Amino acid sequence: MDVLRGSELFPAQSDLYRHVFNYISSMSLKCAVELGIPDIIHNHGQPITLSDLVPALEIHPSKTSSVHRLMCLLVHSGFFSATRPAVHHINHKDGDHEDEEEAYDLTPTSRLLLKDNLSCISPMVLSMLDAALVTPWHFMGDWFRGNRGSSSTPFEIAHNMKIWEYGDQNPEFNSLFNEAMASDSGMMNWVIRDCEPVFEGLVTLVDVGGGTGLVSRIITESFPHLKCTVLDLPHVVGNLPAVGQTENMKFIGGDMFRSIPPANAVLLKTVLHSWSDDKCLEILKKCRGAIPSDGGKVIIIDAVINRNKEEHQVTEVKLFLDMLMMVMTTGRERSEKQWKKLFLEAGFRSYKITPIFGLRSLIEVFP
Ligand SMILES: C[S@@+](CC[C@H](N)C(=O)[O-])C[C@H]1O[C@@H](n2cnc3c(N)ncnc32)[C@H](O)[C@@H]1O
Repeated sequence: MDVLRGSELFPAQSDLYRHVFNYISSMSLKCAVELGIPDIIHNHGQPITLSDLVPALEIHPSKTSSVHRLMCLLVHSGFFSATRPAVHHINHKDGDHEDEEEAYDLTPTSRLLLKDNLSCISPMVLSMLDAALVTPWHFMGDWFRGNRGSSSTPFEIAHNMKIWEYGDQNPEFNSLFNEAMASDSGMMNWVIRDCEPVFEGLVTLVDVGGGTGLVSRIITESFPHLKCTVLDLPHVVGNLPAVGQTENMKFIGGDMFRSIPPANAVLLKTVLHSWSDDKCLEILKKCRGAIPSDGGKVIIIDAVINRNKEEHQVTEVKLFLDMLMMVMTTGRERSEKQWKKLFLEAGFRSYKITPIFGLRSLIEVFP
């Protein structure tokens, strides 16, 4: 094996360390959300200096001096920007004084963490970085080697149960997870009206695995002629406030593997990526039975991996999601070829992919 020369050695070490310590960026982001830093900056109405930020944080006085270090990393990672006022006096005796003059502002990324907006994805940060979802990664090697019997996922090795049972038995995790799923759907609000042709002619829609119903709410608000039924597991829809139910939207607790109520169309948003091909076929065949052969359709919102045509960063996120599905569920992210195979095997005749939701595409599948 070639030995790395000096000029390659240290960049390689630095590159490796960057990957090893990438979780520090994720965990610092989680901490920023827990401390409410994005909203504090937003409510300040202008870039905030450290001396204004610190008193606004509910932190122990002994931790005051550490905030600057947290902000340094968050700025470096692009979550916040740091600007210096045009005129300022630097106290050369005290190097820190220069840093205190920095004022922090939001970036497009941290704007997505602001609470009072429909596109807020803070619950996603808190849920995906919750210990329940971080611990299973420690068992990935064991899972590959088969050291822990026949557990189907590293999640199952870590928690002795599947993720959906875990949600049933841990109400706090259940709420956090459902909130995260809803927050992931909030951004659909900005583009759903562009999907008019997709919903044209439909009168009824079943949102299978629809969680707390945010997607259906966005759809019924945009297309008031549609009546939506949200089907999800009883522990997900059981405790929802009655206000969620409207004339155009109702909830049903059930199991999509047993029965899906009939409708003109079935919606599956980020549901199929949680399941193996065999299970997806079961779900798709049930969907096929729930819709009319003439004019019915299944509408899937999920990622389509297209490694040759999309930006490196987009593919990277999709590959992260694919690994996430491998570790937490028995599912996967799929390429168009893999989707097509599933559709044909489930008895559908054609499909149309519209890449409209950033990482996710809208796929219409026709019987
Ligand atoms: C990744 S979440 C997606 C939620 C929602 N569609 C969204 O995008 O916000 C998958 C959903 O499938 C639901 N689910 C899992 N197993 C199910 C089953 N057997 N029957 C119905 N829903 C199920 C979960 O409870 C969860 O709400």
